[in-house]
Amino acid sequence: MSPTLPRYSRITGTGSHLPPRRVTNDDLARQLAARGVETSDQWIVERTGIRARHFADEGVVCSDLALPAARAALAAAGRQTDDVDLIIVATSTPDMVFPSTATLLQAKLGIANGSPAFDVQAVCSGFIYALTVADALIRTGSAQCALVIGSEVFSRILDFDDRTTCVLFGDGAGAVVLEASNEPGLLGTELHADGRHAGILCTPGTVAGGKVIGDPTLKMDGQAVFKLAVGVLEDVARSVLAKAGKTEADIDFLIPHQANIRIMQGTARKLKLPADKLIVTVDEHGNTSAASIPLALDAAVRDGRIRRGHTLMLEGVGGGFTWGAALLEL
Ligand SMILES: CC(C)(COP(=O)(O)OP(=O)(O)OC[C@H]1O[C@@H](n2cnc3c(N)ncnc32)[C@H](O)[C@@H]1OP(=O)(O)O)[C@@H](O)C(=O)NCCC(=O)NCCS
Repeated sequence: MSPTLPRYSRITGTGSHLPPRRVTNDDLARQLAARGVETSDQWIVERTGIRARHFADEGVVCSDLALPAARAALAAAGRQTDDVDLIIVATSTPDMVFPSTATLLQAKLGIANGSPAFDVQAVCSGFIYALTVADALIRTGSAQCALVIGSEVFSRILDFDDRTTCVLFGDGAGAVVLEASNEPGLLGTELHADGRHAGILCTPGTVAGGKVIGDPTLKMDGQAVFKLAVGVLEDVARSVLAKAGKTEADIDFLIPHQANIRIMQGTARKLKLPADKLIVTVDEHGNTSAASIPLALDAAVRDGRIRRGHTLMLEGVGGGFTWGAALLEL
């Protein structure tokens, strides 16, 4: 007889970590001015809502940020490292070309039980992709207790001579423990990609013949990204709600990818959600790509706004072009 499969995967703990170096818009403007690049706190705040971001010090790699985030999530879930039987790290700024950051993190956590660990690369949608994959592995009985992490050191791929991009991003990591459960749980997820738009947000360089080939810094057509993001975030949220048999009124909190306050507020308005149901950390974190959603989730769990039983809509959008959403009950 086959073992009974769990009906749901459920988030049982959250954690996050920001590198200590906080860089305000004024700090950044001063650093850029020294290179002859002009920007201002006023421009950045008005266009994006960002007031500060955190940058990792030289030598700090993606798995270094993921490690304290993972430990905090395990502590919140009341789990030990030995309980973990799956690690998925969403990142576009891995420690190495290979092996995956997830395997390096597994070793740093001291996990030697042979359970799978791998990275997911879907840029700023990465956490939603990773959560969806972990949910599927749990509900099909392949894992019981997963660490799902978004971790990024985007400062490493920024061109600090390009003011249209370097002011937008930051470093950090967020983690959740996702466990098999017969209580809800993830209620629905949906993933999308459209590779025809790869060029509007990319880091086109690669490594070959012992050299970096092409430009290894982030390129973005901000207005094209803005237009696409606004449309897909509304559509995917509505689609996931419909599949789960829920409506906008069931959402206690919306946690969209933290890239730009105008995109986030626009999405909340379209879903008829009041401002206090929108979780915002972009002001303090900037855009931390795959880390932004779990960082925002953990911030709101730790300040007491988000509690057990709340219904959350998580939404990601980014390079690829990729997008997706996850509706869950905490
Ligand atoms: C990037 C973004 C903030 C730019 O805002 P925008 O209103 O589109 O601004 P524009 O690109 O039209 O630039 C307006 C002016 O500001 C200038 N500018 C650009 N960056 C600047 C900066 N950091 N500081 C000061 N001025 C800046 C431009 O040079 C331009 O000047 P010009 O009119 O003299 O040519 C906006 O397009 C955006 O948020 N896009 C989505 C980005 C995003 O979310 N990406 C991540 C998705 S995962």
